[in-house]
Amino acid sequence: MTATPGRNAIDAKALRKVYRGGRGQPPAEALKGIDLAVPQGSIFGLLGPNGAGKSTFINILADLVVKTSGTASIWGFDIDKNPRQARASIGVVPQELNIDPFFTPGEALELQAGLYGVPKEERRTMEILRVLGLDDKADAYARTLSGGMRRRLLVAKALVHNPPVLVLDEPTAGVDIELRKQLWDYVRELNNRGTTIVLTTHYLEEAEELCDRIAIINHGEVAACEEKTTLLHRIEQKQMVIRPGGESGEGARAPDLGGLKVECRPDGCLVITYSPEDISAGEIIERLQRANIEILDITTQQSDLEDVFLQLTYHRDGAAEDPATGTRPVPDRPAGHAPASAE
Ligand SMILES: Nc1ncnc2c1ncn2[C@@H]1O[C@H](COP(=O)(O)OP(=O)(O)OP(=O)(O)O)[C@@H](O)[C@H]1O
Ligand SMILES: [Mg+2]
Repeated sequence: MTATPGRNAIDAKALRKVYRGGRGQPPAEALKGIDLAVPQGSIFGLLGPNGAGKSTFINILADLVVKTSGTASIWGFDIDKNPRQARASIGVVPQELNIDPFFTPGEALELQAGLYGVPKEERRTMEILRVLGLDDKADAYARTLSGGMRRRLLVAKALVHNPPVLVLDEPTAGVDIELRKQLWDYVRELNNRGTTIVLTTHYLEEAEELCDRIAIINHGEVAACEEKTTLLHRIEQKQMVIRPGGESGEGARAPDLGGLKVECRPDGCLVITYSPEDISAGEIIERLQRANIEILDITTQQSDLEDVFLQLTYHRDGAAEDPATGTRPVPDRPAGHAPASAE
């Protein structure tokens, strides 16, 4: 099935999930009626802090969790009206490493293919094991696989029925750097061949590198859902870090640079926060020179996904425990993105 531009691979409307509270616990509203659309052909990142509702969303699509209300469709198939086709259209790599220890990877894939009714001649067991670096483990018991290998086996299982949508819930947690790279190369390759990819990850640089569209969810609500480049432009501020020479070194007070925000780091570096729309880097350097500050070294930092993520998800009642413990300030929340309401 080839991706059609303009169509959605996943379309959720007013999707809500309330988990019944057990053992004296109150019910938990994990999804507060979210609208979320994943365009066909995209690599879509689903980001959010622990407990935001990412796995709940994915597990509803995978038919592992029953939604409370709302609708969802996968590749145009409504999960209530066409459950079989919806299930056939999606492969899900779950966050939990739930592997039957008594099957070998080869058997596990054959079994999965049987469950999905893939005819014997169309099965690609060895091919899938090969691309995931598990071909030499095809006949080993799953209980003898390492954690990273088990996760790759889960990816393999999600691919046996060749679904147009592949959802990976934290696929690289516990996977070493080399294999992570391999896994991402394979994800890219699948995407190039037309598979729509949805992934959650806590490695923001991974999402920044891989995804073309990103949704950030927080407390069961969608805080942002847009093209990655648009998302990254939300914070227009840059920072210039200057290592000054001479007397303006360690212990110096922040100089006055005509109203610019200047901080003096403990290591003696000056951190200047500015908006490129208001002032050019050249003008800042001129001001530094006018203030007789010798520049030994200079670097600039652009806002990255981590800044945007922190801005959109930081604890609403925790201004004192501001997550920006580094040198980067957390700008004010932009208009139109109010903090999630209290539970
Ligand atoms: N089976 C369950 N029963 C009760 N509450 C649950 C259940 N599963 C999840 N929750 C609650 O629902 C909320 C969302 O959880 P979910 O697992 O969807 O978050 P997540 O975004 O995937 O987090 P993480 O990044 O830690 O994987 C949390 O408050 C969690 O405690
Ligand atoms: Mg999760």
